[in-house]
Amino acid sequence: MKVIVVGKGGREHALVTALVESDCAPEVYCYPGSDAILDVARELPGVVSDVDSLVAAMVAEGIDLCVGGEEVWLANGLADKARAAGIPTWGPVAQSAQLEASKQFAKEFMIRHDIPTGAYAVAENASEAKAAISSYPTVLKFDGLAAGKGVVICNKEAEADAFLGEVFEDRRFGEGRVLVEEYLEGPEVSVIATVADGSYQIFTPARDYKRLGDGDEGLNTGGMGAVASRELIEPELLAAIEERVMRASVDGLVKDGLDFRGFLYAGLMLTNDGPKVLEYNCRFGDPEAQAVLPLVGGDLATYLKKAAEGEIDESLISFDQSWSICLVMASAGYPTSSRSGDVVSGLDDVSDARVYHAGTVKNRDGKFETNGGRVLAVVARGSDRESARTRAYAEAQKVTFDGAQSRSDIGSMHFN
Ligand code: AMP
Ligand code: GLY
Repeated sequence: MKVIVVGKGGREHALVTALVESDCAPEVYCYPGSDAILDVARELPGVVSDVDSLVAAMVAEGIDLCVGGEEVWLANGLADKARAAGIPTWGPVAQSAQLEASKQFAKEFMIRHDIPTGAYAVAENASEAKAAISSYPTVLKFDGLAAGKGVVICNKEAEADAFLGEVFEDRRFGEGRVLVEEYLEGPEVSVIATVADGSYQIFTPARDYKRLGDGDEGLNTGGMGAVASRELIEPELLAAIEERVMRASVDGLVKDGLDFRGFLYAGLMLTNDGPKVLEYNCRFGDPEAQAVLPLVGGDLATYLKKAAEGEIDESLISFDQSWSICLVMASAGYPTSSRSGDVVSGLDDVSDARVYHAGTVKNRDGKFETNGGRVLAVVARGSDRESARTRAYAEAQKVTFDGAQSRSDIGSMHFN
């Protein structure tokens, strides 16, 4: 089987690795990939720059399964076009990818199907947004894809004004509305399921750590680490999430006639009033994928191929019951900026963990150096949370580069 993963970050490195390790030993390609990914995956021949040429190149290569990693390709019709060309594709068609690409679409979907979520209002301009803010803190969200930068939690009016200026005056994210959302409190959890038409299977729950600093202090980032385990949430709570969120979402997709075959990610806040959905994504999470996928055994490639054709066959994969902890190392200046060109040392010394690259490039000497904000993730397993943590931190210590930033409380914060 020939499988291609579309994307280039740490999540795609983890997806490619899990597919390579599938029992059926598929030939795995990646586009556009990265130097680290293309050490384990094949490059797709043929020049490609947009969805049409990518699909043409996949057809020419005889690709049997396309796995969408990055949302932007799905929102731009990757699944529609690849499927039309006869390639089973994992990841929803553009219409259904609106669940991620438009926060308003997602909110209306949740309200329509009685899926628990925070109250909200839609604003066309800054004055409408300001009128909709009743108290602080409040949450403002740009209604479109903004690479994780379109959400701010405002503690005071000046912060709201600054964000509204960026959206409506500077048009930092292009044209679009803003959602004003009720501020919710509690620990977060990410529940990701494979969804094919009306059926689904929930993967190991995970939590990502979005703030730059320990104790959830500092700026929001793309994710500074993650923890995954079946034991992350109580069975009763997981059952409630399954019923009220995942089952309800999958049923809602069917009722609305929204074709969905792909990962459905529900970002949840576990509030005192029960779990509430913060967002949907129509792909695996990053860095959740780096934590969860090493726990998946069996034949992920065949599983996703069948699922892309409409059938979820749970017998094809298994989930390791251990804990997995993913530590992200970011470059100097992140998340405001990033620094390139810092050589990464110690990668060969890592023996008891996996390393997934997000922002690296090979230099002329063949050594990896930083090339982005989040540079790489070190992921270790353990039979319990503490042993996974100890191992992850011990292995991550072996990897160094100038200006590296990481958190010391991944897998411990939010646990009693
Ligand atoms: P989103 O992209 O919608 O998931 O938002 C990014 C992050 O902002 C979430 O993971 C939360 O940490 C935070 N966030 C989003 N919505 C809310 C909310 N209604 N209340 C509190 N925090 C939120
Ligand atoms: N970890 C959050 C996301 O992938 O959107």
